Amino acid sequence: MQQQAIGIFDSGVGGTSIWKEIAGLLPNENTIYLADSKYAPYGKRSREEILALSIKNTEKLLEMDCKIIVVACNTATTNAIKILRERYKVPFIGIEPAIKPAAINTKTKKVGVLATKGTLSSELFAKTSDLYAQNIEVIEVIGTGLVEGIEDGTIDSPEMYRLLTSYIRPMIEKDIDYLVLGCSHYPYLIPVLQKMLSDRVTIIDSGEAVARQTKAVLVTNRLLNPSSETGNHQLYTNGDVSILKDILYGSNLKYSVYALDF
Ligand code: DGL
Repeated sequence: MQQQAIGIFDSGVGGTSIWKEIAGLLPNENTIYLADSKYAPYGKRSREEILALSIKNTEKLLEMDCKIIVVACNTATTNAIKILRERYKVPFIGIEPAIKPAAINTKTKKVGVLATKGTLSSELFAKTSDLYAQNIEVIEVIGTGLVEGIEDGTIDSPEMYRLLTSYIRPMIEKDIDYLVLGCSHYPYLIPVLQKMLSDRVTIIDSGEAVARQTKAVLVTNRLLNPSSETGNHQLYTNGDVSILKDILYGSNLKYSVYALDF
């Protein structure tokens, strides 16, 4: 069981930002990543559709014999993880916008959250904000078009720059000092965002926290791989293989990328 892979899925290539953190923190673990690019973006879909897609991905990963599942998608976590946990026996790890550290550390008491419509309108997000962000102003902005741009491989395009500028402007005007990236695709926009934001604004994403949580869950469930060999990493996409390869370019992890219909 311990040798079985950690299964990870996202609506597309963005969740590889989480996969990198997990593979980096747990070098002896095997991983299988599913990029559900064919059905991206999830953020525009109904709760029922997001749940059906999350079930489809989970069943594929279970068929591939995964020992735990990381839902590397905020939209799927906030809309479906509760039901996934009720339905399947394997442990699930989810990802949520990291409002808590931003709310604890903000000095201006203004925090920006950039996420998909599906995440920002979810019950779980409302609950987390109510819990941690009572005395601060949260400026929520839907990142319409950003996931599409990343899935198209046009991160550096003028259109992406224009979209991001329009989303960030209201946050800067409100004097935020923390920007929470509430979508696992968005860490790939950090280089562009850094050019737009002053040093006063700290950008937070949830990748490291999810990797730490994955390790903790493996330890608790005695599922940590005892092998001293470097883990094997297989990444599958039902979209364009070259987009997945491009986004991984420059990573020093060893991995294989495959096309798969799922
Ligand atoms: N990576 C997904 C997330 O974290 C993107 C959602 C989408 O496909 O709209 O929310």
